[in-house]
Amino acid sequence: MAGALISVLLERLASTTYEYIEGGVKLVLNVKEDVEEFTGTLQVIQAVLEDAEQRQVTDQAVKIWLDKLKDISYQMVDVLDEWNTNILKQQVEKQEREGDPNAHVTKKVRFFSFPRFSSFPRFFCVGKVSDIAPKIKDLNDKLTEIYEERKKYQFLSKELGIQQPQQPQRPQTASFVDISGIFGRENEKEVLIKILWNHSSAEGKGLLIIPIVGMGGIGKTTLTQLAYNDDRVKTRFELRKWVCVSDPFDEIKIAKAIIGEKPPKSNELDYVLERMSTSIKNKKFLLVLDDVWTDDPKKWEQLRVPLIQNGAKGSIILVTTRKHEVADMMRTTRNMINLGELNDECCLSIFNHMAFWDRDVHEFGDISKEIVKKCKGLPLAAKTLGSLMQNKTKMGEWKEVLHSKIWDLEKVEQEVFQPLFLSYNDLAPTIKCCLLYCATFPKDYEFERDDLIQLWMAQDYVISKGNKEKGTTGDAVFDNLVARSFFQDFKKDCDTGTIIGCKMHDIVHDFVQFLTKNECLIIDHGEETTSESKVFGDKVRHLTLRYFPEGPLPLFISSYNCKNLRTLATFDSRITTIKPNLILQLKCLRTLNLSFNPIEELPKEIGELIHLRHIDLSFNCILKILPDTICGLYNLSTLRLVGCSNLTKLPENMGNLINLKHLYVECCGFLESFPKVIGRLTSLQTLDVCPCGGDKDEAFQIGDLRNLNLEGSLQIRLQGDATDKSEVEKAQLWDKKLFTLTVDLEGQTNSSSSSVEILNALRPHPDLESLGILWHIGTTWPNWIQSLHNLKFLTVGWGTSCELWPLGKLEHIERLALYRMEAVKKVGVEFLGLEDQTSFRIRSPQIFPKLKQLCFYNMSNWEEWEGVEEWTKEDSKITIMPDLSELRIGGCKLLKALPDFIFKTQLRTLDITKCRRLAEHYEEGSGERAKISAKIPNIRISSGTYDIPGAFMKHLSRWHV
Ligand SMILES: *[C@@H]1O[C@H](CO)[C@@H](O)[C@H](O)[C@H]1NC(C)=O
Ligand SMILES: *[C@@H]1O[C@H](CO)[C@@H](O)[C@H](O)[C@H]1NC(C)=O
Ligand SMILES: *[C@@H]1O[C@H](CO)[C@@H](O)[C@H](O)[C@H]1NC(C)=O
Ligand SMILES: *[C@@H]1O[C@H](CO)[C@@H](O)[C@H](O)[C@H]1NC(C)=O
Repeated sequence: MAGALISVLLERLASTTYEYIEGGVKLVLNVKEDVEEFTGTLQVIQAVLEDAEQRQVTDQAVKIWLDKLKDISYQMVDVLDEWNTNILKQQVEKQEREGDPNAHVTKKVRFFSFPRFSSFPRFFCVGKVSDIAPKIKDLNDKLTEIYEERKKYQFLSKELGIQQPQQPQRPQTASFVDISGIFGRENEKEVLIKILWNHSSAEGKGLLIIPIVGMGGIGKTTLTQLAYNDDRVKTRFELRKWVCVSDPFDEIKIAKAIIGEKPPKSNELDYVLERMSTSIKNKKFLLVLDDVWTDDPKKWEQLRVPLIQNGAKGSIILVTTRKHEVADMMRTTRNMINLGELNDECCLSIFNHMAFWDRDVHEFGDISKEIVKKCKGLPLAAKTLGSLMQNKTKMGEWKEVLHSKIWDLEKVEQEVFQPLFLSYNDLAPTIKCCLLYCATFPKDYEFERDDLIQLWMAQDYVISKGNKEKGTTGDAVFDNLVARSFFQDFKKDCDTGTIIGCKMHDIVHDFVQFLTKNECLIIDHGEETTSESKVFGDKVRHLTLRYFPEGPLPLFISSYNCKNLRTLATFDSRITTIKPNLILQLKCLRTLNLSFNPIEELPKEIGELIHLRHIDLSFNCILKILPDTICGLYNLSTLRLVGCSNLTKLPENMGNLINLKHLYVECCGFLESFPKVIGRLTSLQTLDVCPCGGDKDEAFQIGDLRNLNLEGSLQIRLQGDATDKSEVEKAQLWDKKLFTLTVDLEGQTNSSSSSVEILNALRPHPDLESLGILWHIGTTWPNWIQSLHNLKFLTVGWGTSCELWPLGKLEHIERLALYRMEAVKKVGVEFLGLEDQTSFRIRSPQIFPKLKQLCFYNMSNWEEWEGVEEWTKEDSKITIMPDLSELRIGGCKLLKALPDFIFKTQLRTLDITKCRRLAEHYEEGSGERAKISAKIPNIRISSGTYDIPGAFMKHLSRWHV
């Protein structure tokens, strides 16, 4: 889809800035002129792209023309990127010449500000400008040729206002429904009818708006038709109206449709709304607004107000839409019905109904079932495929359909993809590009939000957060795709509830693959010679390899447009080596994902791939070192090395990666220190784990965190004896916008400062929400902990101290886990923040006022949990854990019983695992068990394994790989 891509490119070109330094002004002027001309030409061409894209389907010449255009555009991007890289290189070299920037702080700041704020080329007159300028000129000339060529095709231009290029047709819907073809949805229908029934009977209730939301083809309209035509519903409303709204949202048309018979001829909005008001005056109505797209509140308000003011109480509006934004705009998300997939049985019924009419169903029974699986619960697909089979009578024909890719079936393309096309066309160009990029992943893949966003950034589709004024951020795109039902099966963060992962419906995946079949290709091992991969091979820009067995990166990829590849990824493969001359061909690569392969060594030639922005080598267990040439990849912004368990060190010159924003090194057990130069990476925002310590001159020290602009989540692992509190203070952690912090003091031996002094010096940002403190040896807590007013999650573990901290004093804590504190034998009232059994009289009466979840794990010597006598009295003035809803205890073998106060909380879930004595105490059938069962609805006592809730796993992950 060239259109979206070129729009995005134009956006970037338009924001190019030119800077002149030190002479050479003329050259830069030439370049500027050329780039501006290029941009201008492209803008003119853009106006005809929509038409061209429609026509390429049938006209091969148009297709070739579009391909050429795309090619030139990509080349321009690459040339500009090459130049920009040269500038970065100069910067780095200058830095080298001037020595360690840490020594001259002010100079450094100015210097580094450059790459951080540039999202696309800025021109300096330096270095190889003389090489690149002719290239740009040449591309400009080529584009002019393409521009001239376009006249041949007489495209329709958007600008000229002549007839809009044909949009995919939006189907009209009506309220009539043929019940015989509908299967499933009984539950949904009953729920909906009950709501309609209830609301229409209730006296004194206003207008109710119910949005029915789901992807295109999932059956929203059908469900609504079922409810609309149900006899129980019919009797309830004086007036029922079905309006097919579609896009654009035309208030006058809708109002006229509501008026029904004899609508006014006038198109005066006010007059039409007046007439509409009269027609519904004091009537109880049921209005269906089918297929609403607009999320413009102004348009909606104009219609809503007269509807609310004139209808009788108990009136209802049903709205079907595939956009959550519509429900948001109507402020009715609370009543929203989310329509999910249909089960396979119902799909089969639909399919059979369409395919066989009066023929024998059993004839192709087994194949039907297989074909229906392709529908993945999408009734529209079942219907379409069923009707496709209607007049197919030969087994061979059935098998052909079964084995074909779903998008090769013309009928599917026309009917199933059509509703998706409508959704797709409604997206902004940037979002289109991002959606299409998902085609590089296999079906059923679970996308992770941050991963995906970083990949989009690597392709320059979106810009990073700090750069909002220059374009769309990845987060906005992700949320948009979620809101428009392109994603589903959400995984949410246990702390914040934000969506961090999702999947894509198979049919949507088919759809994006269909749209990108020239550009994105997934090749399974053994498939490399099929005709399809051959045909598209030379256009491919994103290549994904699957199931490749142990051996070198296969050479055949060099026949796949290798020099133009922008993404190369592997899934479920066992690549061991990469030939230098193969990697040298991948000159345009921006993303390289070789995770989960057993690669021993990366060729040093990787340093030549100057456009690389994203490298993922995670879970390469054999990899010991990275080639130092990686440090010449000045554009690199993400480096993922998670789980590289044999990796011993990072390259010495990492400090040159001045664009590096995200570095992931979690679970690299042998990576005991960082090179000191990491401290120069001022672009760095994400650093998941940070080993600090080791040789003071060579290795990264905690104080070197000072210049990093970290955000989000960080695990600090203090090591060796080089750590004292003055070094720790240098890190100025309070300045870093961290929400999650884990401090692991395990390796912290012989340090000159005590463990609590070090903790005191690590005072985090006041917004910190989640804190883990591991291996703290000492009985006092850090002096800042009570001042963290946003601290909700706390994990404390591996401390050898006997006394527990008075954690009950932390008023904001919502979830608390104590982990493996082996010296603890007794948890007394001190834990609650009380001095002793009587001191509650003088203290605030609320203890752990917000605590919801409390967990103890592996406290293997813990025997007693002391109660609070006062609290058992009826007229007690204190409350303990008033909000507690979940208590989990795992691997505490010696603990005898739970204190009584626990049973006066609101506890809903009690999970006891691998706690021998507790299990005996609360044995099934015993009096004690009966006592707790009466109070707590969910009790599980078992000897199995226990899951640590995600909020705490963030702190403990290193110990659980
Ligand atoms: C209908 O109303 C009754 C009584 O007001 C209520 O108990 C029931 O939950 C309602 N049903 C639905 C589906 O809202
Ligand atoms: C199947 O039916 C469609 C119309 O329903 C018709 O256009 C097509 O030619 C038929 N195909 C065969 C093989 O009979
Ligand atoms: C890289 O590929 C692996 C599978 O091999 C996948 O799990 C991972 O998400 C990919 N990483 C990125 C950043 O795409
Ligand atoms: C580390 O590499 C050695 C070979 O060099 C290998 O035997 C060992 O299994 C590797 N470790 C891991 C965790 O894979």
